[in-house]
Amino acid sequence: MNKLTIRDIEVGNKRVLVRVDFNVPLDAKTGVITDDSRIRATLPTIKYLTDRKARVILCSHLGRPKGKVVKQLRLTVVARRLSRILGHTVKVANDGIGPEVDKAVEALKAGQVLLLENIRFHPEEEANDAAFAQRLARLADIYVNDAFGACHRAHASIVGVARYLPAVAGLLVEKETKVLEGLLANPHHPFAELSGGAKVSDKIGVLENTMDKVDSILIGGSMAATFLKAQDYEVGLSLVEDDRLDFATGLMKDAAQRGVYLLLPVDVVIADRLSAEAEVKTVSIENIPADWRIVDIGPKTIKNFSEELRKCQTIFWNGPMGVYEIARFAKGTQAMARLLADLRATIIIGGGSTAEVVTAMELADKMTFVSTGGGASLRFLGGEKLPGIAVLLDREG
Ligand code: 3PG
Repeated sequence: MNKLTIRDIEVGNKRVLVRVDFNVPLDAKTGVITDDSRIRATLPTIKYLTDRKARVILCSHLGRPKGKVVKQLRLTVVARRLSRILGHTVKVANDGIGPEVDKAVEALKAGQVLLLENIRFHPEEEANDAAFAQRLARLADIYVNDAFGACHRAHASIVGVARYLPAVAGLLVEKETKVLEGLLANPHHPFAELSGGAKVSDKIGVLENTMDKVDSILIGGSMAATFLKAQDYEVGLSLVEDDRLDFATGLMKDAAQRGVYLLLPVDVVIADRLSAEAEVKTVSIENIPADWRIVDIGPKTIKNFSEELRKCQTIFWNGPMGVYEIARFAKGTQAMARLLADLRATIIIGGGSTAEVVTAMELADKMTFVSTGGGASLRFLGGEKLPGIAVLLDREG
């Protein structure tokens, strides 16, 4: 990454506005944080700054409140968790901007941390409103972006504010970009991409951009249905993106021409409805009834995928192999997670639900790197310039 980081500037006693991505999953009933990896991932930056006596102002979004105050999306719960992890109290401001926030920032002492309220409570955030960005900028002397997971969003606290302050990368953004750049530039071969999740459309960029780098592509999850349909299989009520059938056909052709081994499921778990109580069976892909749907990869597919992945030196995994939220349909996803955790290869986990799965299974530590960015890591690997990174100060020379 050719960008300046917090190591390149003087931060002592300065007011430092740090954009973090504390968009953590919450239990729908209790509101309790179910995975705090994104909070923990920012600790190196926060500690670096507080150790050097900076006055740290954290800014994040949580969920998609659409420019309105949504009680369940207040950041109090995040501040509490962060306080517990840091071992000292993190104050929460009552808003993202405004006179009370100004006062809270003024009262901030060297080495203290303040968390602003959910910045998406303001519609100006997502609109990247210049006046709003300027007001945010006035809170600080330096801007740090450590919100890798949100760097693909051209919002006021990610892009706008960086135009009004010296803007540098935090240590998480530095680490994420280093790992993902390495994956694109210098992967050890054989290099496999294990792709799953709901939609082909989310993965097009990555699949296209890495086609000349990978040795094999393994496709599971709901997106496999589009590939199977493109090969004229009956896929029943499975989610198919009809407007991506041509893409799927083209990708399979391209892979064959380049000698990239493309594996699809040979058997699948199917259900008569999307429910934990559904009737379920395992069938080969030739035998999917018109009124059933694919919910997981089958045992033969798990075996095929495992054999291929065991040969690899580098694996990038993004997207579950089935409807993993329902325990009965999570076997394929869990089998892949367990397998990857056992391999000695370089294993990079794309963020989002894949990261949640390996964290919930307590396997995150066994992977080489678990990205905190779902959409952001896919776009990065898809070759896109992330606006939140592009706007930071360039390293000279
Ligand atoms: C994410 O969870 O991918 C980031 O926090 C970005 O959130 P968004 O998709 O709501 O912009």
